[in-house]
Amino acid sequence: MTAPVSHIDQLGEESSIWFKLTPLAKGPQNPMKILMQMAERYGGVIPINMANQRVVLLTEPEHFKRVFVTKADDYIKYFDGLKPIFGKAMITHDGALWQKIRMPQQPAFHPDMFVEYVPFFLQAIRTKMDTWAKLAKSGESFEMVEQTWTLAADMICKALFDRDMPFNPHFVFKCVKLYTDVMNHKAVRDKKVAGEEFDVSEESVAKAVETWAGVMPQVLAADPRENREQTLLKMIEAAVADPSIPEFDQQQALDELKQYLWAGTETTALTLAWAMYEVSKRPEARERIRREGLEVYGDRDPTAADYSALAYTRAVIQETMRIYPPIWMFIRVAAKADVIDGKEIRPGDRVALFSYGVHHSPKYWEDPEEFRPERWLGDAAKKRKPYTYIPFGGGKRSCIGGAMSQVENTLALSILLRRFRPEYVGAEPPGINATVTLTPRGGLPFKIHELN
Ligand code: HEM
Repeated sequence: MTAPVSHIDQLGEESSIWFKLTPLAKGPQNPMKILMQMAERYGGVIPINMANQRVVLLTEPEHFKRVFVTKADDYIKYFDGLKPIFGKAMITHDGALWQKIRMPQQPAFHPDMFVEYVPFFLQAIRTKMDTWAKLAKSGESFEMVEQTWTLAADMICKALFDRDMPFNPHFVFKCVKLYTDVMNHKAVRDKKVAGEEFDVSEESVAKAVETWAGVMPQVLAADPRENREQTLLKMIEAAVADPSIPEFDQQQALDELKQYLWAGTETTALTLAWAMYEVSKRPEARERIRREGLEVYGDRDPTAADYSALAYTRAVIQETMRIYPPIWMFIRVAAKADVIDGKEIRPGDRVALFSYGVHHSPKYWEDPEEFRPERWLGDAAKKRKPYTYIPFGGGKRSCIGGAMSQVENTLALSILLRRFRPEYVGAEPPGINATVTLTPRGGLPFKIHELN
């Protein structure tokens, strides 16, 4: 398999919207506040003329609906900057080809499949509990996103690929992060801004691309755990063998699988890590989660059917994704001219949907900065205005694994809190980095304690 080196020269491209957002990533403790103030001051549609590119910031739920649904074909997915990571996986395509590639994978994420997956999620959670028991004993502190990222990757490998995780997740994800950070915010950009030559061969980025490119072949070379037929991997193999989809070749298959190792892990991991941070400050929430687990599944293993009964635990996950949406902004490229709220959209404009702003807007949420899982219980949640809560996006391009991630995280939170008390030991409040994902600046340091 060849590394997608052809994309390396795109690193730190000035036309990249992420490049333009670099000052944000380096900005104050919570750079989101600047964008929120802009939205308040300048109204719902904010055109920003950058040197060689027009960016239009959209800040209202009606705009999101227009871009995601009503005029979805006129707003094309923007993912160029991430091609080195995803190759030609469906996440980087649009139109008919995207549909052809997504269709055969969709059944793997139908809720009926969760029955099949839950026992493997539980195995991964048990492995994590073994690690946490050791950390509790030694008393050492650790970084929570690293911990939850390993868990999320283990769940994906076991449940969707029928493999144990054959790679060192800390090393691999460090490579991915280094790579996305380099691409988006760090060395390359600094050198470009300073007008210095950038030689890829000097940079660890080349190594990172190579490591990332090699990870999926490593997974495939590992022995199947149980030779299960009902896996995403089997569905992808069937798509490769299907002559009616010639585009779905071996490379496509590798890139699809690799895509899940990032799109399906970092987001899930960030959610669980932020949830741990929030509950670490709230003994009453931890107690309620523990009690709910006891009432719903007691001393047996939870099943997929128990998930719907874990209403409060799930609400904690939902509220976490409201306050800390892992994908905090969506970027599209306008293919056609349009007018939104009287403002002109030109073909080629980068259209940025600021979902974090709507998740935190007092127009749509009572006390929006309050972490309040109860807002997801009962009827209030059903009356919510559409497109005010979009952690998984909207319309046809919405997240394929969103429902599954909620099962993973609800079960993980429930089970882990029945045995452990997480103690956050970092600065208060944690800073936020506005990279492609919304990450805690410098991580979330924790200690863990065993409950009696
Ligand atoms: C908390 C967890 C997750 C969050 C917040 C999340 C968020 C998102 C969002 C917002 C998008 C759409 C981006 C856009 O429209 O530009 C997306 C797409 C995607 N997600 Fe997720 N995701 C999560 C978990 C997962 C999981 C568990 C998987 C699979 C195992 C997954 C796989 C994907 C894929 C493949 C796409 C691209 C879909 C397409 O292009 O058609 N995600 N995700």
